[in-house]
Amino acid sequence: MSYREALRLLTARLKKVTNQPRFEAELLLAFVRKISREKLLLDDEKEIPPEEWKLLNDLCLQREIYKPMAYILQEKEFFGLKFFVNQHTLIPRPETEILVEEVLKHLQSRSNPQPISILDMGCGSGCIGLSLAHEYTGKAHYFLTDISFPALQVAKQNQKRLLPEKKIYFIAMNQLLGFSTTFDVIVSNPPYVTEQEYDRLQLEIQHFEPKQALVPSKNFFENLFASLNTHLSNKGVFFMETNPNFIEKHAKQLTEKGFFVQTIPDYTGQNHFIKAQWHPFRKL
Ligand SMILES: C[S@@+](CC[C@H](N)C(=O)[O-])C[C@H]1O[C@@H](n2cnc3c(N)ncnc32)[C@H](O)[C@@H]1O
Repeated sequence: MSYREALRLLTARLKKVTNQPRFEAELLLAFVRKISREKLLLDDEKEIPPEEWKLLNDLCLQREIYKPMAYILQEKEFFGLKFFVNQHTLIPRPETEILVEEVLKHLQSRSNPQPISILDMGCGSGCIGLSLAHEYTGKAHYFLTDISFPALQVAKQNQKRLLPEKKIYFIAMNQLLGFSTTFDVIVSNPPYVTEQEYDRLQLEIQHFEPKQALVPSKNFFENLFASLNTHLSNKGVFFMETNPNFIEKHAKQLTEKGFFVQTIPDYTGQNHFIKAQWHPFRKL
């Protein structure tokens, strides 16, 4: 069987699970052949080796039970970097890039020459913290934390692959509990899906992505906001992605704690991100 025929068969099978079957079939074939998608057409009349066809079938079977492509290919692009991902980490979402852009804007507007300390809480694959470390050229100390030890291991693996020269601290931790230091920037994309919303999510997400990365524990935000100010330096800033349905509530809670709060929209125009600057003298 030729590569062209293999691609046709694969595309037909994937029609049941995705609305871009040809594209995904090409990605799987390129992955198996260890070449870029663009090169697939160059020799598509060539005979497919049996071991490649077998592997392709295995991968297609995984997709047919709705395993997300990023977990099959073990990779997801975020902010121009290719992050290794597995079942322990959320697949980085494109809208989270807005959060990184907002933090970068803040970092680039600083005039203070002192190194800045940046904490990415709930780092998952490390996509936020490592993208910041990749993009920001100023002096900074980076701390990446997660309650999930296996997720933290993935983040560490990504640092070794993508930024081997950078010194980055990885710490397993529940929220901010355990830190006695303060940070100039705390950024987080925490779990923010309600149980009811979770039940309505696509099967791809429900069956494969870690629930702990999606649904917060009880009183998650109340506990986080209560301990936030003691972990931010004077004029430190907290950046967070959150549930658009609760963003006004979160903004209000932070304002009541003495933060200057700004909400930021996503690509659809919905407010989805919070920037909250800590100002100790504004304590109510
Ligand atoms: C929505 S995911 C975000 C992952 C990654 N930062 C991203 O943007 O793709 C939330 C992350 O928070 C972690 N997490 C959940 N509860 C936590 C807690 N109490 N303390 C620290 N991290 C927590 C999860 O393990 C998960 O990796």
